[in-house]
Amino acid sequence: MNHDTPASQGLSLRSVKVWDIPTRVFHWLLAFSFSAAYLTSESERYRDWHVMFGYTVAALIVFRLIWGIAGTRYARFSSFIFSPSRVLEYLRSLLSSSPKHYLGHNPAGAVAIFLLLGLSMLTACSGFATYQEIGGEWVEELHEGCAATMLAVVAGHIVGVVMSSLLHRENLVRSMFSGNKSGPADQAIRKTRPLVGIILLVAVLGFWSADRFGWLPVSSDVAVTQQHNRHDHD
Ligand code: HEM
Ligand code: HEM
Repeated sequence: MNHDTPASQGLSLRSVKVWDIPTRVFHWLLAFSFSAAYLTSESERYRDWHVMFGYTVAALIVFRLIWGIAGTRYARFSSFIFSPSRVLEYLRSLLSSSPKHYLGHNPAGAVAIFLLLGLSMLTACSGFATYQEIGGEWVEELHEGCAATMLAVVAGHIVGVVMSSLLHRENLVRSMFSGNKSGPADQAIRKTRPLVGIILLVAVLGFWSADRFGWLPVSSDVAVTQQHNRHDHD
């Protein structure tokens, strides 16, 4: 699943495919939707956009949970579940002259990833409850608290990505676009599953269009519709 630095193993390394297409499409859609949900969160004017991007985050996480079981080698959760001692061992190795190199997610990155997946779901669910006026003030506070915590973890995630890129002299951001990392040829994934990636992208673009053009039977503007209904009954 992982491999040590080239010097310690004497393996000949080359650029190999690690991230399949659905994982890359998922990542950039998640990063975009989270940022867009955050940026549209404050003003009532953009509430329907906020809700639309929030639902997109929730749907993407559902997809990722399935892909964590059905996806290719490095996308599967089993390839990046590490014990706390492995996480500590990795963090300690960062202080040494030869930090441990992982072809898939490293143990510290994996912790951030599971936190992000969990927090995304919690933020979206508490947002939905706030929107439907279920629960009251504390749910609203929970929603804002989850979103703020998520923002902090995202900041840590980005710092971690930059630090790992520098330590391993490997541009990880580019890898999340190209799918390639440096490793032994026999450890590459064989299939990149483009069709699943295209279906995911088309589904998200389709949802955004349907929501914006009002083609959905229930729009993200449910609260507004409910208000209208209440007025109609008055
Ligand atoms: C511009 C900002 C971002 C950059 C440059 C970035 C970069 C990356 C990179 C390079 C990886 C792979 C890490 C590795 O090699 O182990 C990754 C993974 C990941 N990132 Fe980001 N990220 C960004 C924003 C975000 C945001 C906003 C979120 C969540 C809200 C996020 C969630 C994740 C998740 C869940 C993974 C795991 C991917 C998977 O296996 O499905 N990232 N990110
Ligand atoms: C998962 C991504 C999401 C993020 C990052 C996010 C973030 C936020 C933030 C930061 C606020 C506080 C804005 C302020 O300063 O007043 C907020 C408010 C709100 N969010 Fe979200 N949210 C997300 C998802 C959702 C979803 C899925 C819904 C509904 C289905 C939703 C509904 C709301 C509502 C109704 C408010 C206003 C609460 C109030 O009246 O103060 N959010 N969101």
